[in-house]
Amino acid sequence: MEQTFIMIKPDGVQRGLVGEIISRFEKKGFSLKGLKFMNVERTFAECHYADLSAKPFFTGLVDYIISGPVVAMVWEGKGVVATGRKIIGATNPLASEPGTIRGDFAIDIGRNVIHGSDAVESATKEIALWFPEGTVSWQSSLKSWIYE
Ligand code: RTP
Ligand code: MG
Repeated sequence: MEQTFIMIKPDGVQRGLVGEIISRFEKKGFSLKGLKFMNVERTFAECHYADLSAKPFFTGLVDYIISGPVVAMVWEGKGVVATGRKIIGATNPLASEPGTIRGDFAIDIGRNVIHGSDAVESATKEIALWFPEGTVSWQSSLKSWIYE
């Protein structure tokens, strides 16, 4: 089953959106496989966003991610990478559809509340980076009510 890495960014934590965000993934039917509340160091944030290191907004992005605690999660389910991105909404919250997390709760691109892996390959890399200890192995008893 596919897995994705989801992180509630420091603004999402400060604004009290942790429960709301977890709830959206839970209600969809995805399964929580890992959950940590943590501060990240600059070098770790730089590693997570290494693909963007040449961008002019990189330093500001890293400053943002280390500005307070984040919630790091692994969610599992059929198509969870692409569908997770749809639940999150477009990168620029002003372009995100209402009903998406960014569309409902954010305005500025540099305060867009949540991160989600953009492909199965990057999800695998990000899960290994954020959860080197591994994730939780369990299966929801609702599985047969969610999948045919
Ligand atoms: P994320 O990785 O955080 O889920 O966001 P994303 O895939 O939707 O967008 P990405 O291109 O990976 O950019 C990562 C984060 O960098 C900030 N950003 N700022 N000022 C800008 O033009 C700009 N572009 C991107 C955003 O916080 C974005 O989520
Ligand atoms: Mg991205």
